[in-house]
Amino acid sequence: MKIEGSTVLVTGTNRGIGRSLVTALAESGAKKVYAGIRDVEAFTNKEAKFLEKFKGKVEPISLDITKNNQVDLAVEKAYDVNLLINNAGIANYSGLIAADDLASARQEMEVNYFATLAMIRAFAPVLKKNGGGAIVNLLSVASLVNFPLLGTYSASKAALYSLTQGVRAELAAEGTKVIGIFPGPIDTDMAKGIEMDKASPDEIAQGTLKAIENGQEDVFIDPMAVEFQQGLLSDPKAVERQCGEMLPA
Ligand SMILES: NC(=O)c1ccc[n+]([C@@H]2O[C@H](COP(=O)([O-])OP(=O)(O)OC[C@H]3O[C@@H](n4cnc5c(N)ncnc54)[C@H](OP(=O)(O)O)[C@@H]3O)[C@@H](O)[C@H]2O)c1
Repeated sequence: MKIEGSTVLVTGTNRGIGRSLVTALAESGAKKVYAGIRDVEAFTNKEAKFLEKFKGKVEPISLDITKNNQVDLAVEKAYDVNLLINNAGIANYSGLIAADDLASARQEMEVNYFATLAMIRAFAPVLKKNGGGAIVNLLSVASLVNFPLLGTYSASKAALYSLTQGVRAELAAEGTKVIGIFPGPIDTDMAKGIEMDKASPDEIAQGTLKAIENGQEDVFIDPMAVEFQQGLLSDPKAVERQCGEMLPA
């Protein structure tokens, strides 16, 4: 599908990759970008210049994806979208065994899996009505192999990968394309604690837009992600062992 003239809702756009996606979409000819933000007032104060620059094009909407009433309101407001980008996510850096209890694991599943599924279920009929369009899910290389350093996060992103495959099949008849993005470490707040080379969120945003235009389904953009995918194709057990060397404290 074309970005030019599209109407888009992106979740989790207060910072990081979501923020880069909104900018890239607005600069690439999207007709309208609904920017899902948990605290719209704080964002409006902090980003007055940004909002002025894209006045009439970028519209912040109050959206915590775990809150059903806010998801319902988003559907009412963004009834014209033909592209949904599920970017909002959390990483608690908790080990599956090392964590004190299951709170982190449950919270990550709630945001990264259940709330994202709720968004897709809520917007699937909107996309159908608007001609099919596309859904993009921000997955991770951690969707493919568990990183014990963020073991509970990896499990939630693996669930999101499975969800992505399932909704792709279920929504094919409605003409809705479903795309998964698998980034490696990206230079945002989420990856602050990781000592590795990191790609920029702008690079992920540009690569995502290109993948949407090209109709790609499984998308590896940054160099680490590309290398990771090649490693999985040639020796998946070696990749698992390598990821297993990074243990939680
Ligand atoms: N950074 C990486 O290395 C990396 C790698 C692979 C995949 N990813 C994925 O890429 C996506 C974006 O990550 P990022 O690096 O940009 O993370 P980030 O800098 O931590 O930003 C996350 C964004 O999600 C929002 N968010 C969190 N919980 C939410 C909720 N319940 N409802 C709505 N919004 C919520 C946050 O809102 P507030 O600002 O209000 O907290 C924030 O705007 C995530 O899905 C992440 O898993 C990131």
